[in-house]
Amino acid sequence: MTQVNTFHQQVVLITAAGSGLGRGIAIDLANRGASVYVWDRDASALQDLSEYAKAEKLMITTSVVDLASEQEVETAFKTTISQSKKIDVLINNAGGSLHTPFHFLKQTKEDWDRVFNLNLMLTVKLTQLVIPCMLEMQYGRIINLGSKAGRYGSLFAGANYVAVKGAIHALTLQLAQEFGPQGITCNAICPGAVMTPRVKGLLKERQSDEQRERILNEIPVRRHGELEDIANSVAFLASPESGFITGVLLDVNGGQAMST
Ligand SMILES: NC(=O)c1ccc[n+]([C@@H]2O[C@H](COP(=O)([O-])OP(=O)(O)OC[C@H]3O[C@@H](n4cnc5c(N)ncnc54)[C@H](O)[C@@H]3O)[C@@H](O)[C@H]2O)c1
Repeated sequence: MTQVNTFHQQVVLITAAGSGLGRGIAIDLANRGASVYVWDRDASALQDLSEYAKAEKLMITTSVVDLASEQEVETAFKTTISQSKKIDVLINNAGGSLHTPFHFLKQTKEDWDRVFNLNLMLTVKLTQLVIPCMLEMQYGRIINLGSKAGRYGSLFAGANYVAVKGAIHALTLQLAQEFGPQGITCNAICPGAVMTPRVKGLLKERQSDEQRERILNEIPVRRHGELEDIANSVAFLASPESGFITGVLLDVNGGQAMST
Protein backbone atom coordinates (compact mmCIF):
# COMPACT_ATOMS: atom_id res chain seq x y z
CA MET A 1 0.00 0.00 0.00
CA THR A 2 1.38 3.47 -0.89
CA GLN A 3 1.32 5.85 2.06
CA VAL A 4 1.91 9.59 2.23
CA ASN A 5 4.96 10.07 4.44
CA THR A 6 3.44 12.73 6.68
CA PHE A 7 5.11 11.37 9.82
CA HIS A 8 8.71 11.46 8.57
CA GLN A 9 11.01 12.30 11.56
CA GLN A 10 8.04 12.34 13.93
CA VAL A 11 8.31 10.52 17.26
CA VAL A 12 5.16 8.88 18.62
CA LEU A 13 4.67 7.41 22.10
CA ILE A 14 1.67 5.10 22.55
CA THR A 15 0.59 3.20 25.66
CA ALA A 16 -0.80 -0.36 25.84
CA ALA A 17 -0.13 -1.03 22.18
CA GLY A 18 1.12 -4.62 22.39
CA SER A 19 -2.26 -5.74 21.09
CA GLY A 20 -5.77 -4.44 20.35
CA LEU A 21 -6.42 -0.99 18.89
CA GLY A 22 -3.05 0.36 20.04
CA ARG A 23 -1.12 -2.21 18.01
CA GLY A 24 -3.07 -1.27 14.89
CA ILE A 25 -2.46 2.45 15.51
CA ALA A 26 1.28 1.89 16.14
CA ILE A 27 1.76 -0.12 12.94
CA ASP A 28 -0.25 2.38 10.90
CA LEU A 29 1.79 5.39 12.10
CA ALA A 30 5.07 3.51 11.58
CA ASN A 31 3.89 2.71 8.04
CA ARG A 32 3.41 6.44 7.54
CA GLY A 33 7.06 7.08 8.48
CA ALA A 34 6.91 7.70 12.25
CA SER A 35 9.33 6.35 14.82
CA VAL A 36 6.93 4.73 17.30
CA TYR A 37 7.62 3.86 20.96
CA VAL A 38 5.22 1.26 22.37
CA TRP A 39 4.76 0.47 26.06
CA ASP A 40 2.84 -2.56 27.28
CA ARG A 41 3.13 -5.08 30.12
CA ASP A 42 2.71 -8.11 27.84
CA ALA A 43 6.25 -9.16 26.92
CA SER A 44 5.19 -11.83 24.46
CA ALA A 45 2.82 -9.48 22.58
CA LEU A 46 5.69 -6.95 22.36
CA GLN A 47 8.07 -9.63 21.09
CA ASP A 48 5.55 -10.49 18.38
CA LEU A 49 5.17 -6.79 17.47
CA SER A 50 8.97 -6.29 17.34
CA GLU A 51 9.37 -9.26 15.01
CA TYR A 52 6.61 -7.93 12.75
CA ALA A 53 8.22 -4.47 12.72
CA LYS A 54 11.63 -5.92 11.87
CA ALA A 55 10.21 -7.97 9.00
CA GLU A 56 8.34 -4.93 7.64
CA LYS A 57 11.27 -2.53 8.26
CA LEU A 58 9.15 -0.34 10.54
CA MET A 59 10.61 1.90 13.26
CA ILE A 60 8.86 0.48 16.34
CA THR A 61 10.66 0.32 19.71
CA THR A 62 8.95 -1.67 22.44
CA SER A 63 9.33 -1.59 26.25
CA VAL A 64 7.77 -3.81 28.88
CA VAL A 65 6.06 -1.44 31.32
CA ASP A 66 3.34 -2.04 33.90
CA LEU A 67 1.32 1.12 33.38
CA ALA A 68 -0.40 0.64 36.73
CA SER A 69 2.92 1.48 38.42
CA GLU A 70 3.76 5.20 38.60
CA GLN A 71 7.39 4.35 39.19
CA GLU A 72 7.63 2.13 36.10
CA VAL A 73 5.99 4.89 34.03
CA GLU A 74 8.53 7.45 35.27
CA THR A 75 11.47 5.13 34.57
CA ALA A 76 10.14 4.20 31.12
CA PHE A 77 9.67 7.86 30.30
CA LYS A 78 13.29 8.69 31.22
CA THR A 79 14.58 5.78 29.12
CA THR A 80 12.39 6.61 26.12
CA ILE A 81 13.16 10.33 26.04
CA SER A 82 16.90 9.68 26.38
CA GLN A 83 16.68 7.56 23.20
CA SER A 84 14.10 9.51 21.21
CA LYS A 85 15.20 13.06 22.30
CA LYS A 86 11.64 14.32 21.67
CA ILE A 87 7.99 13.25 21.54
CA ASP A 88 5.84 14.86 18.85
CA VAL A 89 2.75 12.73 19.35
CA LEU A 90 1.42 11.19 22.57
CA ILE A 91 -1.37 8.64 22.26
CA ASN A 92 -3.03 7.83 25.58
CA ASN A 93 -4.48 4.50 24.51
CA ALA A 94 -4.31 2.42 27.72
CA GLY A 95 -7.70 1.81 29.25
CA GLY A 96 -10.86 -0.22 29.11
CA SER A 97 -13.48 -1.50 31.52
CA LEU A 98 -11.10 -4.24 32.76
CA HIS A 99 -13.88 -6.80 32.82
CA THR A 100 -15.54 -5.14 35.82
CA PRO A 101 -19.29 -5.86 36.29
CA PHE A 102 -21.82 -4.18 34.00
CA HIS A 103 -24.42 -3.56 36.71
CA PHE A 104 -23.83 -0.40 38.74
CA LEU A 105 -24.95 -2.00 42.02
CA LYS A 106 -22.44 -4.83 41.56
CA GLN A 107 -19.47 -2.52 41.07
CA THR A 108 -17.08 -2.23 44.03
CA LYS A 109 -14.83 0.64 45.00
CA GLU A 110 -11.92 -1.45 43.71
CA ASP A 111 -13.67 -1.74 40.29
CA TRP A 112 -13.91 2.06 40.17
CA ASP A 113 -10.33 2.59 41.38
CA ARG A 114 -8.77 0.18 38.85
CA VAL A 115 -10.68 1.62 35.90
CA PHE A 116 -10.01 5.23 36.93
CA ASN A 117 -6.31 4.55 37.54
CA LEU A 118 -5.58 2.93 34.16
CA ASN A 119 -7.80 5.15 32.00
CA LEU A 120 -7.57 8.55 33.69
CA MET A 121 -4.78 8.84 36.27
CA LEU A 122 -2.23 7.25 33.92
CA THR A 123 -3.27 9.71 31.21
CA VAL A 124 -2.83 12.59 33.66
CA LYS A 125 0.56 11.31 34.86
CA LEU A 126 2.02 10.62 31.43
CA THR A 127 0.65 13.79 29.85
CA GLN A 128 2.25 15.80 32.67
CA LEU A 129 5.58 14.14 31.87
CA VAL A 130 5.33 14.69 28.11
CA ILE A 131 3.92 18.22 27.86
CA PRO A 132 7.13 19.94 29.09
CA CYS A 133 9.00 18.33 26.12
CA MET A 134 6.28 19.56 23.76
CA LEU A 135 6.46 23.06 25.29
CA GLU A 136 10.18 23.19 24.49
CA MET A 137 9.32 22.55 20.81
CA GLN A 138 6.14 24.68 20.88
CA TYR A 139 4.61 21.71 19.06
CA GLY A 140 2.67 18.62 20.04
CA ARG A 141 -0.24 16.35 19.25
CA ILE A 142 -2.03 14.59 22.11
CA ILE A 143 -4.65 12.00 21.21
CA ASN A 144 -6.73 10.45 23.98
CA LEU A 145 -8.74 7.27 23.52
CA GLY A 146 -12.23 8.21 24.62
CA SER A 147 -15.28 6.13 23.75
CA LYS A 148 -18.82 6.22 22.44
CA ALA A 149 -19.62 5.00 25.97
CA GLY A 150 -18.34 8.23 27.52
CA ARG A 151 -20.58 10.33 25.30
CA TYR A 152 -23.80 8.32 25.10
CA GLY A 153 -23.60 5.51 27.68
CA SER A 154 -22.90 1.86 26.96
CA LEU A 155 -24.92 -1.28 26.30
CA PHE A 156 -22.20 -3.59 27.67
CA ALA A 157 -19.60 -1.65 29.73
CA GLY A 158 -20.61 -0.33 33.16
CA ALA A 159 -20.96 3.06 34.85
CA ASN A 160 -17.31 3.20 35.97
CA TYR A 161 -16.12 2.94 32.35
CA VAL A 162 -18.73 5.39 31.04
CA ALA A 163 -17.80 7.90 33.76
CA VAL A 164 -14.05 7.61 33.24
CA LYS A 165 -14.34 8.11 29.47
CA GLY A 166 -16.52 11.17 30.16
CA ALA A 167 -13.67 12.45 32.34
CA ILE A 168 -11.15 11.78 29.54
CA HIS A 169 -13.33 13.82 27.17
CA ALA A 170 -13.50 16.73 29.64
CA LEU A 171 -9.72 16.56 30.21
CA THR A 172 -9.22 16.67 26.44
CA LEU A 173 -11.18 19.92 26.15
CA GLN A 174 -9.29 21.56 29.01
CA LEU A 175 -5.82 20.56 27.71
CA ALA A 176 -6.80 21.83 24.26
CA GLN A 177 -7.65 25.24 25.74
CA GLU A 178 -4.67 25.44 28.07
CA PHE A 179 -1.93 24.40 25.64
CA GLY A 180 -3.33 25.56 22.29
CA PRO A 181 -1.39 28.84 22.53
CA GLN A 182 1.88 26.82 22.65
CA GLY A 183 1.23 24.81 19.48
CA ILE A 184 -0.04 21.70 21.27
CA THR A 185 -3.35 20.25 20.14
CA CYS A 186 -5.38 17.74 22.15
CA ASN A 187 -8.21 15.67 20.69
CA ALA A 188 -10.05 12.47 21.57
CA ILE A 189 -11.15 9.59 19.37
CA CYS A 190 -14.44 8.09 20.55
CA PRO A 191 -14.85 4.63 18.97
CA GLY A 192 -17.94 2.48 19.08
CA ALA A 193 -17.32 -1.25 19.58
CA VAL A 194 -14.40 -2.47 17.49
CA MET A 195 -14.38 -6.24 17.06
CA THR A 196 -11.04 -7.08 18.66
CA PRO A 197 -10.95 -10.61 20.19
CA ARG A 198 -11.45 -9.09 23.66
CA VAL A 199 -14.55 -7.09 22.65
CA LYS A 200 -16.01 -10.08 20.79
CA GLY A 201 -15.67 -12.15 23.98
CA LEU A 202 -17.25 -9.43 26.13
CA LEU A 203 -20.21 -8.99 23.77
CA LYS A 204 -20.78 -12.73 23.59
CA GLU A 205 -20.87 -12.85 27.39
CA ARG A 206 -23.15 -9.82 27.88
CA GLN A 207 -25.50 -9.82 24.87
CA SER A 208 -27.58 -12.50 23.15
CA ASP A 209 -27.10 -13.33 19.44
CA GLU A 210 -30.45 -11.58 18.76
CA GLN A 211 -29.39 -8.40 20.59
CA ARG A 212 -26.09 -8.26 18.70
CA GLU A 213 -27.88 -8.79 15.38
CA ARG A 214 -30.42 -6.03 16.18
CA ILE A 215 -27.67 -3.56 17.18
CA LEU A 216 -25.69 -4.28 14.00
CA ASN A 217 -28.80 -3.64 11.91
CA GLU A 218 -29.26 -0.26 13.61
CA ILE A 219 -25.73 0.99 12.80
CA PRO A 220 -26.22 3.28 9.78
CA VAL A 221 -23.16 1.91 7.89
CA ARG A 222 -24.26 -1.69 8.80
CA ARG A 223 -20.91 -2.87 10.12
CA HIS A 224 -18.78 -2.67 13.24
CA GLY A 225 -15.58 -0.64 13.40
CA GLU A 226 -12.30 -2.12 12.22
CA LEU A 227 -8.78 -1.37 13.45
CA GLU A 228 -8.15 0.63 10.26
CA ASP A 229 -11.09 2.95 11.02
CA ILE A 230 -9.54 3.89 14.35
CA ALA A 231 -5.96 4.06 13.06
CA ASN A 232 -6.94 6.34 10.15
CA SER A 233 -8.78 8.72 12.50
CA VAL A 234 -5.81 8.87 14.87
CA ALA A 235 -3.40 9.50 11.98
CA PHE A 236 -5.58 12.39 10.79
CA LEU A 237 -5.58 14.15 14.18
CA ALA A 238 -1.93 13.31 14.92
CA SER A 239 -0.54 14.72 11.67
CA PRO A 240 1.28 18.06 11.38
CA GLU A 241 -1.49 19.15 8.95
CA SER A 242 -4.14 19.07 11.72
CA GLY A 243 -2.81 22.07 13.67
CA PHE A 244 -6.11 23.97 13.46
CA ILE A 245 -8.13 21.10 14.95
CA THR A 246 -8.19 20.88 18.74
CA GLY A 247 -10.68 20.01 21.48
CA VAL A 248 -12.52 17.63 19.16
CA LEU A 249 -14.26 14.52 20.52
CA LEU A 250 -14.39 12.58 17.28
CA ASP A 251 -17.15 9.97 17.02
CA VAL A 252 -15.88 6.96 15.06
CA ASN A 253 -18.90 4.68 15.21
CA GLY A 254 -20.48 4.38 11.77
CA GLY A 255 -23.28 6.72 12.88
CA GLN A 256 -24.34 4.36 15.68
CA ALA A 257 -24.69 7.27 18.10
CA MET A 258 -27.76 8.36 16.09
CA SER A 259 -29.54 5.04 16.55
CA THR A 260 -28.58 3.01 19.67
N1 LIG B 1 -11.93 -2.05 21.57
C1 LIG B 1 -12.99 -1.26 21.52
O1 LIG B 1 -14.05 -1.61 20.97
C2 LIG B 1 -12.92 0.13 22.12
C3 LIG B 1 -14.03 0.99 21.94
C4 LIG B 1 -13.96 2.27 22.49
C5 LIG B 1 -12.83 2.68 23.16
N2 LIG B 1 -11.78 1.82 23.33
C6 LIG B 1 -10.61 2.31 24.06
O2 LIG B 1 -9.45 2.09 23.27
C7 LIG B 1 -8.34 1.80 24.11
C8 LIG B 1 -7.70 0.47 23.68
O3 LIG B 1 -8.69 -0.55 23.81
P1 LIG B 1 -8.42 -2.08 23.43
O4 LIG B 1 -9.76 -2.72 23.35
O5 LIG B 1 -7.50 -2.16 22.27
O6 LIG B 1 -7.65 -2.56 24.75
P2 LIG B 1 -7.25 -4.05 25.22
O7 LIG B 1 -8.02 -4.40 26.45
O8 LIG B 1 -7.33 -4.97 24.06
O9 LIG B 1 -5.74 -3.86 25.75
C9 LIG B 1 -4.68 -3.55 24.93
C10 LIG B 1 -3.38 -3.73 25.70
O10 LIG B 1 -3.41 -3.15 27.02
C11 LIG B 1 -2.38 -3.77 27.73
N3 LIG B 1 -2.49 -3.47 29.17
C12 LIG B 1 -3.57 -3.63 29.97
N4 LIG B 1 -3.27 -3.24 31.22
C13 LIG B 1 -1.97 -2.83 31.21
C14 LIG B 1 -1.07 -2.33 32.20
N5 LIG B 1 -1.43 -2.19 33.48
N6 LIG B 1 0.20 -2.02 31.82
C15 LIG B 1 0.60 -2.17 30.54
N7 LIG B 1 -0.20 -2.64 29.57
C16 LIG B 1 -1.48 -2.97 29.90
C17 LIG B 1 -2.58 -5.25 27.41
O11 LIG B 1 -1.40 -6.00 27.68
C18 LIG B 1 -2.94 -5.18 25.92
O12 LIG B 1 -1.81 -5.43 25.10
C19 LIG B 1 -8.87 1.81 25.55
O13 LIG B 1 -8.66 3.08 26.12
C20 LIG B 1 -10.36 1.54 25.36
O14 LIG B 1 -11.13 2.03 26.43
C21 LIG B 1 -11.80 0.56 22.82
